[in-house]
Amino acid sequence: MKILIVYDSYFGNTKEIAYLIASELQEDNELKIVKADDVKKEDIDNIELLVVGSPTRAFKPSTKIAQFMKRIEFGSLKGVKVAVFDTRISKEDTKVKILKVMIKIFGYAANPMAKLLARKGGEVVVEPMGFYVAGTEGPIKDGEKERVVQWIGEIE
Ligand SMILES: Cc1cc2nc3c(=O)[nH]c(=O)nc-3n(C[C@H](O)[C@H](O)[C@H](O)COP(=O)(O)O)c2cc1C
Repeated sequence: MKILIVYDSYFGNTKEIAYLIASELQEDNELKIVKADDVKKEDIDNIELLVVGSPTRAFKPSTKIAQFMKRIEFGSLKGVKVAVFDTRISKEDTKVKILKVMIKIFGYAANPMAKLLARKGGEVVVEPMGFYVAGTEGPIKDGEKERVVQWIGEIE
């Protein structure tokens, strides 16, 4: 299978998860992993699986991930399997009360990413997923890397 993994990361957490996914999928597949602002148009040509990972920023994907997704033409992901994830802080770890309420209302990055890539023609093959970091700069919380491996194993 030809796979492209696209990620963005400010502090390294989303990148670490993207590379963990790459190591899980590498065997028997032709895989490329690229940072969102380095993706070339030809990187998307003929791919069979697109994995996109973004830090959640103000309840949304990062600017670079948003720009990457915007550049993809409508319909061009037809026949392409899609898996998206974000990194995020759990409501329980958020100390500011108003933020907890806002998270409840506005959510995280993964769902809107999946919706947009589906509109571009992609087939979302696993539940859009969030992986938890302990604070703004991380680290990735205990047990999350195991969840990553389990999640990526669900791709058909
Ligand atoms: C400006 C800014 C906005 C953020 N907004 C959110 C948010 O809305 N929801 C959330 O769960 N985490 C939010 N975070 C925390 C990020 O999700 C966290 O920094 C990110 O997952 C770390 O991934 P990275 O190391 O790949 O950058 C925000 C962080 C920053 C710096």
